[in-house]
Amino acid sequence: MAENAQIQSRPNYGIDAPGLVRFFFSAGAVALAIFLVVLFSSLLGQILKIVVGTLSGIAATYLLGMGCFMLYGSKVMKLKDRDKLLDLVPWSGNERVLDVGCGRGLMLVGAAKRLTTGKAIGIDLWQQHDQANNSAAAALANAVTERVTERVEIKTADMRQLPFPDDYFDVVLSSWAVHNVEAEVDRKKALDEIVRVLKPNGRVVLSDIIHQAEYAHYFEHHGMTNVQLHNNAIRDFALKAVTFGSFAPSAVSACKRA
Ligand SMILES: C[S@@+](CC[C@H](N)C(=O)[O-])C[C@H]1O[C@@H](n2cnc3c(N)ncnc32)[C@H](O)[C@@H]1O
Repeated sequence: MAENAQIQSRPNYGIDAPGLVRFFFSAGAVALAIFLVVLFSSLLGQILKIVVGTLSGIAATYLLGMGCFMLYGSKVMKLKDRDKLLDLVPWSGNERVLDVGCGRGLMLVGAAKRLTTGKAIGIDLWQQHDQANNSAAAALANAVTERVTERVEIKTADMRQLPFPDDYFDVVLSSWAVHNVEAEVDRKKALDEIVRVLKPNGRVVLSDIIHQAEYAHYFEHHGMTNVQLHNNAIRDFALKAVTFGSFAPSAVSACKRA
């Protein structure tokens, strides 16, 4: 696959949920246009002007703010969080690592940079609505840019049916991917698979924007020990408040019982 890799000067880990980002910016632009029309219109009565102006102003601020925040999440917050999450693994350098739903390779490449003789394998279905310009070639291009191609392998696979034997990986990582499997019963299949492919004593670090309590509860009842939630309570509270509970990134880590 190396011959398909694009040449780029900096890694590009993409924008998550590009359709939603587009929606926030377009709806925000419409609300802003209404606000400006109302502001400069001499046709509307004073009360209507105040009501429509206030509502459209609030809507424009919220929608454009959410659009900017989503870009910040994909381009800044996730990269900062990546290193903290990778620090949860006591690396020796020879691990076999799986990145579940690797997308353009954020965790995959980050893990590969910590390996010497080990291998990082990323699997994904490359869904375009989950990440902009999502492809194996884009993940590989990032591996090339970060000079880790020899330690990286990429496969097309569904996280609910991982194409690996039992007890195969020392470390399983996943970032902002499992929530994309909408039905709880399917997310459970993905978690079943993660536990199945982990070696005894292997470690999982599962970062996501929602459902962390569901993952922690699952791990506690399915052969995992040392289940820990890694979150920042203040950031969590603030993000849940402004996103109506739909976005509060944090991670769950756990080890498979020996
Ligand atoms: C928001 S993106 C995150 C990608 C990457 N982990 C990151 O942090 O940048 C979610 C990824 O999960 C993948 N995905 C969604 N459902 C999947 C499934 N059932 N099996 C494998 N990958 C899946 C999508 O294609 C997408 O690449």
